[in-house]
Amino acid sequence: MAKKIILTGDRPTGKLHIGHYLGSLKNRVKLQNEGNYDVYIMIADMQALTDNARNPEKIRNSLIEVALDYLAVGIDPAKSTILVQSQISALNELTMYYLDLVSLARLERNPTVKSEIKQKEFGQSIPAGFLTYPVSQAADITAFKADTVPVGDDQEPMLEQTREIVRSFNRIYETDALVEPEGVFPPKGQGRLPGIDGNAKMSKSLGNCIYLSDSEEEVTKKVMSMYTDPNHIRVEDPGQIEGNTVFTYLDAFGTDTEKIAELKAQYQAGGLGDVKVKRYLNEVLQEVLTPIRERREEYAKDIPAVYEILKQGSQRANDVANQTLQEVRDAIGINYFK
Ligand code: TRP
Repeated sequence: MAKKIILTGDRPTGKLHIGHYLGSLKNRVKLQNEGNYDVYIMIADMQALTDNARNPEKIRNSLIEVALDYLAVGIDPAKSTILVQSQISALNELTMYYLDLVSLARLERNPTVKSEIKQKEFGQSIPAGFLTYPVSQAADITAFKADTVPVGDDQEPMLEQTREIVRSFNRIYETDALVEPEGVFPPKGQGRLPGIDGNAKMSKSLGNCIYLSDSEEEVTKKVMSMYTDPNHIRVEDPGQIEGNTVFTYLDAFGTDTEKIAELKAQYQAGGLGDVKVKRYLNEVLQEVLTPIRERREEYAKDIPAVYEILKQGSQRANDVANQTLQEVRDAIGINYFK
């Protein structure tokens, strides 16, 4: 049977954190190692530029950080193709054709883009490239004929819009050149990790992240400062585990479920201090993060080699995307000079 095709990726606007690891990176490594998929992982620098056009060095610097994070968590360039969006020029031509199939009103209805626009405070100056990035994302996905797109929950509207574009294209041009993708989302409750301050979202702008590249000392410091139960003041007081970030993290990263259940019971009954639970969480996190950090440091010693990995991945990706582009031009009937 033909392998299924995965296309996924991230915008390079900073280093990746343990929320990314839990929500998508871990799953990508698992899918890669199952061997049933052709995996393409895109560093979406053009998409990152749609709201950072005046700050390209931020994107340029983040590109290599994200590449290091990928390699550090175990994305293996011998098994997965890591590619750089801006180096695949066929994507831009596909985007132009798809833009003709999408109305402005439809773009303005995309809920994820809508909430990002609010959050980014563009006012009257929404970059046209930002509003249309879901169409460019449809090009990312369809260029590789991906049927499977493992992403966070906030990406569902992009998949919906991609499917609409695929259906329109195939119907209008009487072809089956494009493939409708399906999203694969994290299991319920595992999609979003709260920040160390207890905020519902771990995000760079809130300064509440633990990064994959944080040193052992940084991780310890952050864990010891984590938000717990504000009413749990004396050790002997009963504590709350709901909304208690330390326990949320233990559930997410711990493997000794028996011990975690015991700690929870003790905490709720009273007699277990925050510091003890935090020390245990620190152990759990260090166990996850140490091999990642070590692999990252190893790859970081030879940055030109990392660029070479990206270059080779992008070359491979170009062959595939150019092939799809030919089929798209054929379907529209604009291959005049064959
Ligand atoms: N929009 C995604 C994000 O913000 C990044 C992305 C770009 C992507 N192109 C993609 C994800 C294609 C999946 C498939 O994280």
